[in-house]
Amino acid sequence: MTRRQLAWLRNAIVALGLVPLAQLTARAFGYGDLGANPVQVVQHTLGITALNLLLLTLTITPLRRLTGRSWLVRLRRPVGLLAFFYALLHALSYAALDLRFDWPRLAADIIERPWLTVGFATVILLVPLAVTSTNAMQRRLGRRWTTLHRSVYAIAALGVLHFFWQVKLDTREPLVYATILAVLLGYRVVVSLRRRTQRAVAQ
Ligand code: HEM
Repeated sequence: MTRRQLAWLRNAIVALGLVPLAQLTARAFGYGDLGANPVQVVQHTLGITALNLLLLTLTITPLRRLTGRSWLVRLRRPVGLLAFFYALLHALSYAALDLRFDWPRLAADIIERPWLTVGFATVILLVPLAVTSTNAMQRRLGRRWTTLHRSVYAIAALGVLHFFWQVKLDTREPLVYATILAVLLGYRVVVSLRRRTQRAVAQ
């Protein structure tokens, strides 16, 4: 993959990643067809897209290992930043549409409702990852960068927990997300155990 092709692919990913937002905007302002509960549609679309993108970032490393295509790693940043962008919009949609920017009420909600506390923690913990996602920051932080960015697994788990917790009856969808996350985490554990065994054998 040449530099130019990679740049093209990254731009295409960003454009594709913005499609759910464009569709939502078109439905809201163009056709006015967000259904009987437009607030829920907005929150659902933004929240699910954030979670989908977060899980997508976690599939990139296993995919790179399984296919041997190292350039895949270069796609992690745009996908991760898109996940953060949607998570922020999702949180903001709650503040704007449900609470009309009543910040003290938002703070009280986050403190009183554990599933919102978890959602809030997910967004906050994504901030240092987004801020340090540049090449310059990666060089500056060295090994600490890798350690910091490993926290994305725990962050994704918090996102899934937030999803699980807010569901009233049907837990099938969050269960699917939890299963995908467990597979992705399990893969990492197996790789790390295998590496340790190989190192022990080599010594
Ligand atoms: C301050 C941060 C957050 C707030 C205030 C918030 C708020 C909400 C609200 C109000 C709902 C809808 C509950 C309902 O319909 O009864 C929701 C659902 C959801 N949130 Fe969040 N959330 C936050 C962070 C996050 C993050 C970081 C993610 C993902 C990475 C996320 C993913 C979801 C998902 C997937 C749903 C379920 C959507 C649905 O099926 O309707 N949320 N959240």
